[in-house]
Amino acid sequence: MFDINYAEWANMLVRWLHITAGIAWIGSSFYFVFADASLEPDENLPKKAHGETWQVHGGGFYHIVKYLVAPDRMPERLHWFKFEAYFTWISGFGMLAVVYYWGAEAFLIDKEVMDLTAPQAIFLSIVGLIAGWVGYDSLCRSKLGDNLGLLLVLVFAFAIFAAWVFGEIFSGRAAFIHAGALIGSIMVGNVFFIIIPNQKKVVKMLMNGETPDAYYGKVAKQRSMHNSYLTMPVLLTMISNHYAFLYGGEYAWIVFAFILVIGALIRHYYITGHQGVTAWWRTWLYPAAGALTVVLVMWLSYSPVQQVADGGEEIDVKQAFTIVKTHCSSCHSSLPIHEDWDEAPIGVVLDDLKQMRAMGNKIYSQAVAGTNMPLGNETGMTKEDRELLGRWIKAGLPGLED
Ligand code: HEC
Repeated sequence: MFDINYAEWANMLVRWLHITAGIAWIGSSFYFVFADASLEPDENLPKKAHGETWQVHGGGFYHIVKYLVAPDRMPERLHWFKFEAYFTWISGFGMLAVVYYWGAEAFLIDKEVMDLTAPQAIFLSIVGLIAGWVGYDSLCRSKLGDNLGLLLVLVFAFAIFAAWVFGEIFSGRAAFIHAGALIGSIMVGNVFFIIIPNQKKVVKMLMNGETPDAYYGKVAKQRSMHNSYLTMPVLLTMISNHYAFLYGGEYAWIVFAFILVIGALIRHYYITGHQGVTAWWRTWLYPAAGALTVVLVMWLSYSPVQQVADGGEEIDVKQAFTIVKTHCSSCHSSLPIHEDWDEAPIGVVLDDLKQMRAMGNKIYSQAVAGTNMPLGNETGMTKEDRELLGRWIKAGLPGLED
């Protein structure tokens, strides 16, 4: 009676939770950064208060006062901000499981990268994320952790190295999402294992009338600084799967490095602004991020295929059409013959020329610029096939009658 597509429903529900929790988490984190930056001193503030800010929202006024260490007297109810982060991670891991573990053969594994079985690939995914956290955490705890600037550079280098390792194990798409999942896990790990437990210890000491050890403040600062710089990169890697040109090429880990640096430059602009830095170079952070973005676009858009297309060489339309029929139509058809698909994946039907034209841009990004399609290259699509397909799309997908 019912024909429930469990994988798709699970995917939808977990994704809904994931973006909701993620928005709440990043939103509250941006809010606090802003609130911190807007604090102003006032002589009428209570003792030990560091600054105040007035805000208006939703029909009321908010008067927020910040205490740097803690107030004299602990309030009866203290509100913590942590469940947003935890639920973001839990639902994120849920997505990884639904999309990449459940569909390991299709999405996690690329036999040309590494010939793995589904259990092996899933095992490596989990081990990779745990090892990534342990590696990062040890780096922070080591002597190198004393120099905040140097440590940040090393953390970035470590993340890029991890992206490269994932690329040697998984499909391009899965590798990119694993790099993102690792930085997301590092951020949540920082909240769960470091920042909140230390905060709790400090609260306890204060309640006992002790002076909290400065060590706790230092560590919390180190970790929350990493979280702050990783916010923008983690968001882009999370939506990267929609853009095959980001992860589809041979050097996806360099693309990932670009994303880290561009995101960090933008964040640095705001962080230094909040710190009141007025040095000349601060103005150049945004343009530098913009320039790097342009370099990235140019690099990823350099296309030997385009050069051939510009050369105006004759296109064998019939053959181009056959390529789509051979390599795409088993899945992307109104009646797919591929055993894994009862209907065309995410509604992409490529049965006739009209439908192909409508999807031309997407086909290009999935199967020419990137090699994401055909899924797992089951049909053995060659480089020449992709080039011809690319030229055909660039020429506007002419039909036989054109
Ligand atoms: C083995 C089945 C299979 C084959 C063969 C296949 N695809 Fe796909 N395709 C999929 C699946 C599954 C998705 C959905 C991926 C997702 O959920 O992100 C997809 C998604 C797409 C999308 C939409 C991507 C997006 O996120 O907007 C395009 C475009 C596409 N395929 C083009 C092609 C082309 C072109 C070919 C042939 C060169 C091809 N596919 C061959 C299974 C296949």
